[in-house]
Amino acid sequence: MKIGLLGHGVVGSGVSKIIDDGLTWEVRELEIKRILVKDESEITDERMTLNPADILEDPEIEIVAECMGGLEPAHSFLVEALKKGKHVVTSNKKMLATYCEELFDFARENGVTVHYEASCGGGIPWMASLDRTRRVDDIDSFRGIFNGTTNYILTRMTKEAGSFPEILKDAQKLGYAEQDPTDDIDGHDVRYKVALSVVKAFDSVINVNDIITFGIRNITLQDLEWCREQGMTCKLIGTGSYFGDHISACVIPMFLKNSDIFSNIPMNFNVIESTSKTLGAASFIGQGAGSLPTAHAVVQNLIDIWKDQDSEINPKYKKPIDNSTHTGVFYIRTAKPEVFAEIAESISGDTVLTKNVSLVEAVKKIQEASDESLFIAEVREA
Ligand code: HSE
Repeated sequence: MKIGLLGHGVVGSGVSKIIDDGLTWEVRELEIKRILVKDESEITDERMTLNPADILEDPEIEIVAECMGGLEPAHSFLVEALKKGKHVVTSNKKMLATYCEELFDFARENGVTVHYEASCGGGIPWMASLDRTRRVDDIDSFRGIFNGTTNYILTRMTKEAGSFPEILKDAQKLGYAEQDPTDDIDGHDVRYKVALSVVKAFDSVINVNDIITFGIRNITLQDLEWCREQGMTCKLIGTGSYFGDHISACVIPMFLKNSDIFSNIPMNFNVIESTSKTLGAASFIGQGAGSLPTAHAVVQNLIDIWKDQDSEINPKYKKPIDNSTHTGVFYIRTAKPEVFAEIAESISGDTVLTKNVSLVEAVKKIQEASDESLFIAEVREA
């Protein structure tokens, strides 16, 4: 099966390596015919081109694998590919989470599919597991450490009392971080992954901007010390829960009991857990970032298409996000603790511990405080 590869950076080069190495008979059924690269300096073999038409206009190419990242031109290229009746595989969570409704519509209209295993959880077969679970059961909820960069930063800050910017630089060198690492540290990368997990788990597209999102940009060693004293570990968590008429979904740092399996997932590893009626809780752990693990997921999808192993690809619903059912106790460190008096259980210096309140209520107070240095984490006793 002939493939056109868009992009030859961290993930794209991993895809061409796995396919060119052809370790298994299934991989040897795939052939990369052309590779779109950004500029002349990247051209190292005769399949490489600077002209997207060499892929999009080639009738022999049946699948377009997009590993460029960013919204444009990735989005326009994929629209064109779908309109030309080519299947699409993408690792680009930001683009797909932003345009999923449109892209799924084009896929449906043209009798082709959009696969996105690599967009969420790197090499972990998370989307495939959701597909399998949903053949038998409804998914009630999921939660995950979806971002390798922030897990790496939190692990090293906790263990070494190390400096955030220095550790972030290491994560960039290791190829975990996004081109723009603010997407990692402000939680947007997880927001996109939660949106795509919702598509698969709950059969619904959503508006990605409705997912309440907090990151770890403002975390300090003081916050981590408070967390350690409670016998807890800090992780950036994305969650989604299904309530029939609506979906609750958010991204927030959480202080979790040290005994929680999530507390023990170190460095760039990801863990994602689904909960469903007959299966109960099922967790999947693996490399959530990096060239070859992510490329592995892309190649798995290429083989799915070649074998015609498509599950239900196109989501049926568009449900609203409503986080008012998400309640909890929140740790808030802020220069303006007085703003939180109404919802506070206790205030000590710049640190507020809230009563059990809804996340929506906490967000309202955070907007009122308008404090750029504020850090929030949900404290999970269970
Ligand atoms: N920047 C992402 C991460 C890459 O750190 O998890 C994988 O999606």
